[in-house]
Amino acid sequence: MSGLAELASTALACTRCPLAGGRTTVVFGEGEPHAGLMVVGEGPGREEDLQGRPFVGRSGQLLDRLLAEEAGLERAEVYIANVVKCRPPDNRDPLPEEIAACRPFLDRQVALIAPRVVLTLGRFATQVLLDTTEGITRLRGRTYPFGAGGAVIVPTFHPAAALRGGGAVVAQMRADFVRARQALTSPRPPAGTTAPSGPPPATQGSLLSGSQGR
Ligand code: URA
Repeated sequence: MSGLAELASTALACTRCPLAGGRTTVVFGEGEPHAGLMVVGEGPGREEDLQGRPFVGRSGQLLDRLLAEEAGLERAEVYIANVVKCRPPDNRDPLPEEIAACRPFLDRQVALIAPRVVLTLGRFATQVLLDTTEGITRLRGRTYPFGAGGAVIVPTFHPAAALRGGGAVVAQMRADFVRARQALTSPRPPAGTTAPSGPPPATQGSLLSGSQGR
């Protein structure tokens, strides 16, 4: 059994947090196990909970489109996972203790896949992996070194925010997906690089704040 398959079977039996009680299925993640690009979302919604697959609802359709149109990648070429693997009731935000309980699964997925680029969708995935409380509007638009192997994080908005927010949000997401594509093909930054690259974050009032920018 591969490391990912073993990890998945552990996740499928997980009862580490109360989300286990309300789930239909565990949405472990799926995709190319040696992907250069790993996408990390927040947590399963209704469709994902029913099907056991990440990003298969409306957000997933937009994700697939942006991957194809801006990053030149088909869904099957990337690996897609979430911060929490079970659906929070009524699609509420995952609680800190639920995120903490699920964190070892995400960390192990990242370690096993060893992607060159992690594209974080929304506030939760970005804050968890960058270990920050800064908002997504200030975090996106740049590339952040991640881990010791020269990988980078490219934060962007959650597709659900784009579905609510319309063209302006989609345009910024398109730029971020292009950034992810560029990071995939650019030389790895030297070991020990810690500074983000790209323009400094916007200083004006944010287009999306709080859970809107999830
Ligand atoms: N939103 C997420 O964050 N993840 C999914 O898998 C689906 C919707």
